[in-house]
Amino acid sequence: MRTIKTAVIGTGFIGPAHVEALRRLGFVEVVALVGRDKARTEGKAAELSIAKVYTDYRKMLKDPEIEVVHNCSTNNVHFPINTAILKAGKHCISEKPLATTTVQSRALVKLAQKAGLVNAVNFNYRFYPLSQQAKAIVDAGEMGELYAATGCYLQDWLCWETDYSWRLNRRISGASSAVADLGSHWCDLVQFITGRRIVNVLGDLRTTFKVRKRPKVSTAAFAGHELTAKDYEQVKVTLDDWADVLVRFDNGARGSFSVSQVSHGRKNHLHYELDGSKCALGADLERPNELWVGHRERANEVLIKDPSLLAEEARAYAHYPGGHPEGYPDGPKNLFRNAYLKIAGNKAALPFPTFEDGHRAVAIVEAIVASSKAGKWTKVKV
Ligand SMILES: NC(=O)c1ccc[n+]([C@@H]2O[C@H](COP(=O)([O-])OP(=O)(O)OC[C@H]3O[C@@H](n4cnc5c(N)ncnc54)[C@H](O)[C@@H]3O)[C@@H](O)[C@H]2O)c1
Repeated sequence: MRTIKTAVIGTGFIGPAHVEALRRLGFVEVVALVGRDKARTEGKAAELSIAKVYTDYRKMLKDPEIEVVHNCSTNNVHFPINTAILKAGKHCISEKPLATTTVQSRALVKLAQKAGLVNAVNFNYRFYPLSQQAKAIVDAGEMGELYAATGCYLQDWLCWETDYSWRLNRRISGASSAVADLGSHWCDLVQFITGRRIVNVLGDLRTTFKVRKRPKVSTAAFAGHELTAKDYEQVKVTLDDWADVLVRFDNGARGSFSVSQVSHGRKNHLHYELDGSKCALGADLERPNELWVGHRERANEVLIKDPSLLAEEARAYAHYPGGHPEGYPDGPKNLFRNAYLKIAGNKAALPFPTFEDGHRAVAIVEAIVASSKAGKWTKVKV
């Protein structure tokens, strides 16, 4: 297979995670890293052994050897950067959210269709082997009709009033923090597994800390020193760090989920439970190698990830034997494999979430925010 050359934009948390996942594919070479800060980007590129460094993505887009670009920047620049990538004739793998408004995400769907380029959004949780197994169970009719979906996505990294991040800044994050960051994953995963679409929502968003204390300097610079009151500035926060949401699906099924960035002890607690007419399915993605199957007439089951026990469709996503865990770093790898096989022209390439899925997620978040403001059920307008 020919080697496909790629650039990654973003040197924070997820950019380097993309680099690692791409390298595990074996037929992709990350030739360039793009960041805003020259010294930081050069340092990261040296650490990751990436040959070229750009501090302006527009210059990188003129590089003829780059065929694919991963957009791992902050939310506020997803729309202009994704637009520029497609206009430069390069395939685009975007982080979620695809954009911060549906006006933008709808335009991106149209542009991608016109350009005829591969477009993907990193809804990585679909690509855990047991997410695929849950989907295979639903697709085989073994769960029956979906009655209801419940769950939550809870984290604790904004628990203290001295915790601060760009995700709480409306200008950078968009119209929501917790719902956009976490709720978008929950909704995408549940829709993927059930094959059902969320069409109506009723959201109740909350800002736990309306004023937070933001460190005036990088906390890394202060590592090992205790910060005192004079090291912080007060910042008003209007975005949600908690939300409860009721949802209705296109088959009439009901659902509810909570999202939180202020739940002590919950690191990445993405939990769903699906009530079907024949059985129930459930998972907590902090325990990604276990799928719960609930029964009324016999004992419940916990399926431990083991390729020999999975449906054929799901087995394509399990690369290690039973007892050898697979999880967070494997999701993007599986997603990228499918997208890059399509880029390579492989007719057997499996599906991956596209800009249409990204747009649907933006539309759901927009509807939840609007419904919370209006205090009433709101239709998801795609
Ligand atoms: N799918 C997932 O599981 C997942 C996980 C984490 C983050 N994300 C998404 O990835 C994105 C980045 O999140 P993060 O946690 O890595 O944030 P981060 O703050 O750690 O990194 C963001 C990076 O974007 C860069 N950036 C911003 N504007 C830029 C520009 N104009 N040109 C080049 N680089 C620019 C910043 O310099 C920084 O390196 C977010 O949109 C987030 O929602 C997705």
